[in-house]
Amino acid sequence: AQSEEEVAYRPIFHFTPDSGWMNDPNGMFYLDGTYHLFFQHNPDDNVWGAMHWGHATSTDLITWEEQPIALEPDKHGTIFSGSAVVDHNNTSGLGEGDIPPVIAIFTYHDAEAADAGRDDFQTQGIAYSLDKGKTWIKYDQNPVLGNPGIRDFRDPKVEWFEEEQKWIMSLAVQDHISFYSSLNLLEWEHESDFGQNLGGHGGVWECPDLFKMTVEETGEEKWVLLVSINPGGPNGGSATQYFIGDFDGTTFTPHESIAEIGEEHDYWIDFGKDNYAGVTWSNIPESDGRRLFIGWMSNWEYANEVPTEQWRSSMTIPRTLKLNKEGSTYRILSSPVQELKQYYSTGVDQKEIVVQDSTILAGEDINLSKAVLSFDISNLQEQRYEFTLGNSEGDQLIFGYSGIEKEFFLNRGNSGLTEFKDVFGKEVSTAPRLSNAESLNVKIVLDKTSIEIFYDNGKTVMTEIFFPNELFQTITADGEQNFTIENFQINQLNF
Ligand code: FRU
Repeated sequence: AQSEEEVAYRPIFHFTPDSGWMNDPNGMFYLDGTYHLFFQHNPDDNVWGAMHWGHATSTDLITWEEQPIALEPDKHGTIFSGSAVVDHNNTSGLGEGDIPPVIAIFTYHDAEAADAGRDDFQTQGIAYSLDKGKTWIKYDQNPVLGNPGIRDFRDPKVEWFEEEQKWIMSLAVQDHISFYSSLNLLEWEHESDFGQNLGGHGGVWECPDLFKMTVEETGEEKWVLLVSINPGGPNGGSATQYFIGDFDGTTFTPHESIAEIGEEHDYWIDFGKDNYAGVTWSNIPESDGRRLFIGWMSNWEYANEVPTEQWRSSMTIPRTLKLNKEGSTYRILSSPVQELKQYYSTGVDQKEIVVQDSTILAGEDINLSKAVLSFDISNLQEQRYEFTLGNSEGDQLIFGYSGIEKEFFLNRGNSGLTEFKDVFGKEVSTAPRLSNAESLNVKIVLDKTSIEIFYDNGKTVMTEIFFPNELFQTITADGEQNFTIENFQINQLNF
């Protein structure tokens, strides 16, 4: 029989490890029909500790199967975050026969050196797989990149730079990103540094990701740099910011529209409190062409204290990223991967719902679902458009849009268990509206203990977790004045 907390809190379609602690997603790659997901994992405890790389695989990004642990600590240290690439041309020389080697590039964290007061305790190592990611062999000449004496020197994300037939590593170095290059993944050369004077610096920079994207409407190519930061997120604690610019194999140059943004910018992948350290999959075939992202659905402010014992924390739903340009402003748009549709079961599709105080949109079984709705906000500019998830215990999760503030809000203060950590339910999260469209569209993905809200085609995203006393059952809409929901569609998900 399942334990009480399994029934109450274990997400159904968001990846969680069977047991133990999890944080950042690591080393994601795709090969021969299989999506690989590795993750920061402490298999022996439900709090952060001696990190390993756990492993899970999926054929559709939604249903995951946990695999044996991929990387364990060794004499160089524990295994921190990093990436993996398929070395198609065997540039590393580590391959054997026809199967291309998969190379994982990660940070070694030498806790003993840190305790002894040294500053050079984080180095980069590699491991390789000769069976398409199933089992891993540590390279015998690790580390491949030593530490110059900087305490925060980690989270290598490697990408092939086609134009110069070389590998580029983005590395988080305290308050900036350093770029390194290599012809063989074994020897690395410093190219440049970016970011010391740009964007949010309320905390340490972590988990970068650099990749090229094409603006769909214009065909223009730009480079995107994701940088996670902790603390210093827009609603406190951990969050992931992004920069748009050009990369020439040596230097990342931010586009003029963001060249001077400071602490208070609005270039965040997600404004909610629970999407951190997210990066993208490598080796997605060109025929697919998507840029696929996943984040850790928690926040360092309370990750070690959330009220589950058997496992701690889950990942976000994988998301497709797109690059959008309006005027001279570039934005990342996020949406849940289309594979989720395969799991739709019964659905309701309604048009022209007039919302008069507390109008029930869906009255049962919303706890595993995907909903889409849209409404025109041009006639009621001062309105507060509010949506509430509820249950018979009186728990409420409230979200929506305030026309006066021109911002979205998400309030989990009364959503169930919140007392385990003061900051968890204390403040209402907010996020700016980044679109001027008259119609506001909202996409919502609900699992037992998480909500992911994609506003304006994913220009503003808010992801948060919660621990209700009973699964949420209903969704209602409210407004000070009546308003019309043009379109409301909800699909239960079937697993
Ligand atoms: C981000 C992070 C990374 C580090 C890992 C350690 O959440 O702090 O910078 O590699 O977690 O578990």
